[in-house]
Amino acid sequence: MSRQVMINEVGLRDGLQAQSKHLSVHERCQLFDKLATMGVAGIEIGSFVSPKAVPQMAGTDQVLSYALAKNTSVSLNALVPNRRGYELAVAAGCREVNVVVSATDTMNLRNINMTTAEIMAASQGIIESAVGDGVSVNAYVAVAFECPFEGAVDPEQVISLSTRLADWGAQRIVVADTIGAANPFAVDGLLRDLLLGVDAQRVACHFHDTRAMGLANIYAALQAGVRHFDTSIGGLGGCPFAPGASGNVATEDVALLCQQAGFNTGVDFSKLMSAVDLVKELTGTAKGGRTHYWLSNHLDKVVGQ
Ligand code: COA
Ligand code: ZN
Repeated sequence: MSRQVMINEVGLRDGLQAQSKHLSVHERCQLFDKLATMGVAGIEIGSFVSPKAVPQMAGTDQVLSYALAKNTSVSLNALVPNRRGYELAVAAGCREVNVVVSATDTMNLRNINMTTAEIMAASQGIIESAVGDGVSVNAYVAVAFECPFEGAVDPEQVISLSTRLADWGAQRIVVADTIGAANPFAVDGLLRDLLLGVDAQRVACHFHDTRAMGLANIYAALQAGVRHFDTSIGGLGGCPFAPGASGNVATEDVALLCQQAGFNTGVDFSKLMSAVDLVKELTGTAKGGRTHYWLSNHLDKVVGQ
């Protein structure tokens, strides 16, 4: 099985969307510059959502333009909640979009004002357009373990939604633990069933670290064969529409776990730490991952590996 792990850095979107301090486009571009050099495979630039719903993401088109002009080899993706978001993203030059279907009706209604059936139909339409436009789609199945409104989620529902999204042509299915309610055994159970129908190379995981199980969940997913993960610099993150959601699993923690276990992420730890410093300075709230202290004092042990 591959020892290559692909990290998609989501700090610019999931990390910033619930921050009380709204970063300017200029600050988000500054952060992009740091993130783009640290060696991750992908960066989620922001979201093409209503600025009334998520003012933190206003100007994502400008951040994307800035990022595209840098001509980086990092793949750039952006969240699109609906058809309008897809059209705005493509008009701004986006070639990889993220659609989000929550596993419960209540979460879909709170997040995007559609039922599950409605957002599935909208996502199918977006995927079909994207296939025609040559745009890649990552389809997120959010609240995949527990919904803040409806409670525990039946894994069969997640598998059913995922399989349909994959069949329609989404390049990747992202199992998203939006509020950080998963545990490694639940991750193992869900993934092993999901991977019977969807190739592991097409599956990614997105964990929040609310209950300190983020790294254990990453380990379970690695063991199940998943090699793509969303992480957020400094452990920043949360969803404004999902009460209880805290930060994503920190990029530095996941990169170090992988490095220590002999997986290659391509991450340059020195540049990663520099990006962590900037995100802490810009937001004033990012705590930094659990590994921050150790990494700050032992960069010599990981740099160049
Ligand atoms: N981008 C920008 N503006 C959008 C938009 C998009 N993707 N989709 C709709 N809008 C605008 C409409 O033009 C309309 O503007 P107006 O009030 O100036 O006329 C307004 O938003 C409301 O549109 P409507 O179609 O009635 O949407 P809604 O009120 O049902 O809201 C969403 C739906 C999706 C626009 C809104 O809930 C949203 O952006 N949610 C963000 C979800 C999110 O980011 N969640 C976190 C990550 S999963
Ligand atoms: Zn998230």
